[in-house]
Amino acid sequence: MQVGVFGLGYVGLVTSACLAERGHHVIGVEVNEARLDALKDGMVPFYEPGLHEMVARQRATDHLTFSASGREAAATADVVIVAVGTHDGNGGWQTETMLACLSEVVPHMADDAVLAVRSTLPPDFIRQLPRLLRSIREQAGREPIAAVVNPEFTREGAAIRDYLEAERVIFGVIDDPKGRGVERMNALYEWSTAPVLTMSAIDAAFAKLGSNLFLATKISFANELAALCDAYGAQVDQVVAGMAFDSRIGGRFLRAGVGFGGSCLPNQVTMTVKSATLAGVPSPLLSAVDEINHRQRTDFVANVREMIGGSLEGKRVALLGLTFKPLTDDLRDAPALDIARHLLAGGATVVAYDPMESARVRSADLVPGLEVVSSALEAVEGVDAIGLVTEWPEFLNLDWSVVRAAVRNPVLVDGRGALIPDQMTALGFDYSAFGRGLRAGALATGETEPIGQTSAERSPTATVIEAYAPLQVE
Ligand code: UDX
Repeated sequence: MQVGVFGLGYVGLVTSACLAERGHHVIGVEVNEARLDALKDGMVPFYEPGLHEMVARQRATDHLTFSASGREAAATADVVIVAVGTHDGNGGWQTETMLACLSEVVPHMADDAVLAVRSTLPPDFIRQLPRLLRSIREQAGREPIAAVVNPEFTREGAAIRDYLEAERVIFGVIDDPKGRGVERMNALYEWSTAPVLTMSAIDAAFAKLGSNLFLATKISFANELAALCDAYGAQVDQVVAGMAFDSRIGGRFLRAGVGFGGSCLPNQVTMTVKSATLAGVPSPLLSAVDEINHRQRTDFVANVREMIGGSLEGKRVALLGLTFKPLTDDLRDAPALDIARHLLAGGATVVAYDPMESARVRSADLVPGLEVVSSALEAVEGVDAIGLVTEWPEFLNLDWSVVRAAVRNPVLVDGRGALIPDQMTALGFDYSAFGRGLRAGALATGETEPIGQTSAERSPTATVIEAYAPLQVE
């Protein structure tokens, strides 16, 4: 099939490359000139395992091309996929980019083409899409087109596998005037063995949101459980192992630590709390999920401080890991950045290392005063404490006896519960981790002020409405 993908950010580029790999002819359209030029020069603007190679492979076969011209890609496509950004950069939604893209693309689509919306959007906006799309087509003197919501469930670091070996594919029907839209989407996904669920657009949007909200809830639950374990002397790993064999519960996404970051989970929690407020629906659970998540960062800093004698002033702290999780160079809402800022504010010198060079460079810009070095051993040299924030394999495979010899004071706070406590203790480290004997969590110090912006502090809810009010269609 001929496919036009609009927006070559994380979701759009992975989708483009994978669909090309599965035999479709994909034109990827990007309005950001610098990004487009980089892609045309063979560079992928972010790190995702296997993506660079896949893009190069598909460009060589001409199954994947990049263009600035949306009109041509829209006019020739059997399926148009829209994957533009919808974050406002401050914990809220913005829909201007989506509206601009739809206004540009939809008038030129063939009458029997299908529009697939892959970006995550506010529920109110999803509900307006049928009228909005019909109105754009009518104004262009064209027949209405079929449109679906096709949410993505791809994790950074595993995006290609998550897309090509999806656990489910969802089509949420926005409009299907001739009843052939879903058929065409099925043809697009013919290669997939995943179960396909067809539902309404709003159901699909909530299936996507609900999945991420549930994952976020699981993590905050694990973190609250870890705090209880610390208070009562239980080991969270043992506790979770004891729970995980219950097939109703499962063991995944129950790793206690500094909490969730990235572009999806934190934003979708805060955006949903805002949307719920607008709809007059109380969301105490999600507000708590958000608050617990940020409290983990507070607890991490408090724990480092307590373990080095109660003050950060004049102390040197190494942070291992800056990205929000391993196998990505993404720093969006990365716990490490908030933690670094608060350690610095407490008077510490903070020296950080991450295996991703691009993340190191950007962190130094994002956190004034942060010292960034180019190896883990350089970071730990002469420090009073080490904080492990991202569980990169490189850190798990470090020779920790060499690390032990390099530090001034052997305090080790494992923010991901990724190291083996007995091994670290045997090497002489004063080791602590969430749910494994954290010394100074909120329960111990009564210091519960969450670090970073929680939903309550982020952009006012009004912007959610303003973002798409001008183009509301009656
Ligand atoms: C998430 C969803 O998993 C994916 O389905 C969706 O399409 C996009 O959002 P991603 O943001 O890439 O993917 O990261 P994910 O693997 O979900 O991890 C999110 C954060 O949670 C990371 O900071 C990770 O370190 C943290 N996490 C994860 C925990 O703290 N504990 C866990 O048990 C699991």
